[in-house]
Amino acid sequence: MAEMFFPSVQLAIKPGTIDLTWGQPDPTLLPVEEMRAAADAAMSKYGADALGYGADAGAGPLMHWLAERMGQNEGRMPAADEILITAGISDALDQICTHLTRPGDTVIVEAPTYHLAVRILQDHDLDIVAAPTDAEGLRVDALEGLVSELDSAGKKPKFLYSIPTFHNPTGASLSAARRRALLELAAARNFLIVEDDVYRELGYDAPSPPSLWSSAEDGMLLRMGSFSKSLAPGLRLGWLTGARDTVQKLVRSGLRDSGGGVNHFTAMVVAAFCEAGYFAAQVTSFRAAYRERRDALAAALRAHVPQAEWRVPGGGFFIWGSFPDGRDTTKLKEAAEGRDVTFIPGSRFYVNGKGRSELRLAFSLYSPDELREAARRLGEGAG
Ligand SMILES: Cc1ncc(COP(=O)(O)O)c(C=O)c1O
Repeated sequence: MAEMFFPSVQLAIKPGTIDLTWGQPDPTLLPVEEMRAAADAAMSKYGADALGYGADAGAGPLMHWLAERMGQNEGRMPAADEILITAGISDALDQICTHLTRPGDTVIVEAPTYHLAVRILQDHDLDIVAAPTDAEGLRVDALEGLVSELDSAGKKPKFLYSIPTFHNPTGASLSAARRRALLELAAARNFLIVEDDVYRELGYDAPSPPSLWSSAEDGMLLRMGSFSKSLAPGLRLGWLTGARDTVQKLVRSGLRDSGGGVNHFTAMVVAAFCEAGYFAAQVTSFRAAYRERRDALAAALRAHVPQAEWRVPGGGFFIWGSFPDGRDTTKLKEAAEGRDVTFIPGSRFYVNGKGRSELRLAFSLYSPDELREAARRLGEGAG
């Protein structure tokens, strides 16, 4: 009988290929020893409490640590009924859709947007409409027109899904003026904002811009945070802060009534990890490593692929490119794969058929030397 093979991780890369597809942390940078020590500390400190069903809203020690950190870093501390531990942003978005939408409801995303969030929205049979962006992020002026159009067509949006800080895929961060304008528009037109804040800890040049949540009025906004990029994605751990009614709807859901808080044991271990000071050390080392990688890839792209315009982000995992000559990046991908380098063509990030001449390159997984080599091969493929 053939031997059965069950993969352990999602990451799958063709040997020899430099694969700039994956927006995932470099496994060699993950804090294996510190997590081992934290698991030990959590068992000593919490004992059987770490192994029981967790409280419905999530593990208390982690919520406490997160709330204090938000108070310090964001100038706003969530009240106890305004925070929920989630199994990451993917889970949070799925739960928001489960509890706030019905099939056929309209939601707005950015064009371009995180393609796998779109998959989640599609799972809920939502009508997905795109609002344009530019180098500064979401175009709030254009969004206003879109909301009016939808309103008059009787399709009031259930929410706007937005990534205002170190956007995936463009790397853009919404300016302070646009953040204010967006919050004002949402209040005036009475729509909910679902803020994806996954890259908050990965700012490389300056402190990250304040979250929308930190200055949003009650009830208008849900902010999804995650440990996936700042610590490790296999933890499947994140949080939701904001609109009290919705947070409480999720806390009181059948899912949590039956299963308790999600990933309770992991959350207790991560609480011990954070309390020991390992979190701060980890984000410092991630930032240093990813800053160097971003800079190496950006310089090499300018040297080897000058035909494209490259947007170098202040944080996150991606460099976004576009070819003013209008060439098709799915064809470029074929040429690049012949030279053992690959990426995601821009069209994958749009729900409205745009992005033909754009592309996303992730720099998180590879060393500066490998990234320079990737740019050289891409340049050959681009001709
Ligand atoms: C913008 C964005 N949101 C969410 C996720 C997934 O987050 P999580 O692992 O917390 O589900 C990613 C991962 O690439 C992402 O880039």
